[in-house]
Amino acid sequence: MAINKKIVEILPALRMILSEDKIKVAKVSGSENGVEPQIKVKVSDDSSETIHQLKAQIELFQQQNGVLPKVILLEGIGLVAVAETSFETEQLLLNQAFDENIVAEGRAVGKTAIITGGAQGFGGGLVESIIKDGGNVVIADLNEEKGKAFAAALNQKSKYNKAHFVKVDVSDLASVDHLVYETVCEFGGFDVFISNAGVLRAGGLDEMTPEAFEFMTKVNYTGYFNCAKSASPVLKLQTANKPGYFADIIQINSKSGLKGSNRNFAYAGGKFGGIGLTQSFALELMPSRVKVNSICPGNFFDGPLWSDPEKGLFVQYLNAGKVKGAKTIEDVKAFYEAQVPAGRGCTVLDVMRAVYYVMEQEYETGQAIPVTGGQEMLK
Ligand SMILES: NC(=O)c1ccc[n+]([C@@H]2O[C@H](COP(=O)([O-])OP(=O)(O)OC[C@H]3O[C@@H](n4cnc5c(N)ncnc54)[C@H](O)[C@@H]3O)[C@@H](O)[C@H]2O)c1
Repeated sequence: MAINKKIVEILPALRMILSEDKIKVAKVSGSENGVEPQIKVKVSDDSSETIHQLKAQIELFQQQNGVLPKVILLEGIGLVAVAETSFETEQLLLNQAFDENIVAEGRAVGKTAIITGGAQGFGGGLVESIIKDGGNVVIADLNEEKGKAFAAALNQKSKYNKAHFVKVDVSDLASVDHLVYETVCEFGGFDVFISNAGVLRAGGLDEMTPEAFEFMTKVNYTGYFNCAKSASPVLKLQTANKPGYFADIIQINSKSGLKGSNRNFAYAGGKFGGIGLTQSFALELMPSRVKVNSICPGNFFDGPLWSDPEKGLFVQYLNAGKVKGAKTIEDVKAFYEAQVPAGRGCTVLDVMRAVYYVMEQEYETGQAIPVTGGQEMLK
């Protein structure tokens, strides 16, 4: 049974009201499964009134019981469980005993991330890192088959945190709104939205069709606007309900967002524009304690964009004779690696370190952070 859309205006606030030092996870279910709620609140048309009622009832429950409630009935919407881990919320909603000995550990514990384009490449690597570090992740991707299989494989290994797949087309605002709604139903909200999905169709002015230009702009540039537009109401609702709490929007940009790229202007233009959006969103959202930053990686030679044996850029450049004298893929790779002062391509770990840097700040916003091994520097 579909959960009432109003949940997006209530559950992110409730998750924060019930979070202590560590941020909790909340999950809603349409069926009650014989579970007895500790608190019941009638949902009114005015969500701020519902939140007000929830605060009052939680305070009363805590005074009477000395602990915070974990199971709450939002009358007219469904049953909500709020706990330290995603696994515990699931057990509570199924009325099953929870093993208290499972202790959540890791740098991302208490964090929930949405990662667009999370089914492969940089996005896939970020998903894996956050799951390994104890956080919850929504793999938000157009590729349903790959994303679902990836989430299932990760969930086989994880004990208390979870990867959840949601199909999304970032170039469609309604689709991103749905992603945010699904995330709220599953995890109660999210602490970082990583706008990573991106597409590249290289070409100079002679080859570039208006259709290809429009397609790239809609995914790389408009897609980032759609993500910020859908994500920001939830993030602002969270910060408004927890003093001292900060949330993040992070765009995975590129070194091509810092310097023009020959015969690749559709990509570079969208990425340059993304930095304009980042700076402007940052000015708008910092007073609400939502930080907005771009991370600008160098070339990810080991990812599918470059290394795919059939369609990857290395094969394309070898076949097109773009690198003089190159006879093998290794020759092409060596040519590009030699252009990086660090002598190698960018890795997921390099980007993940920048993501954590951004998330752990309270005083860094509106930045475009190069992670390029020295290949591109700020002016
Ligand atoms: N690969 C590089 O060398 C490199 C370098 C710098 C920056 N980047 C940036 O990193 C990001 C990820 O790049 P990558 O190379 O890992 O990409 P990739 O092509 O390996 O993966 C992109 C993912 O995004 C998904 N996707 C595509 N269009 C989508 C849409 N409209 N909605 C939702 N999902 C969509 C794809 O299904 C895929 O899973 C991009 O923003 C890219 O510009 C990449």
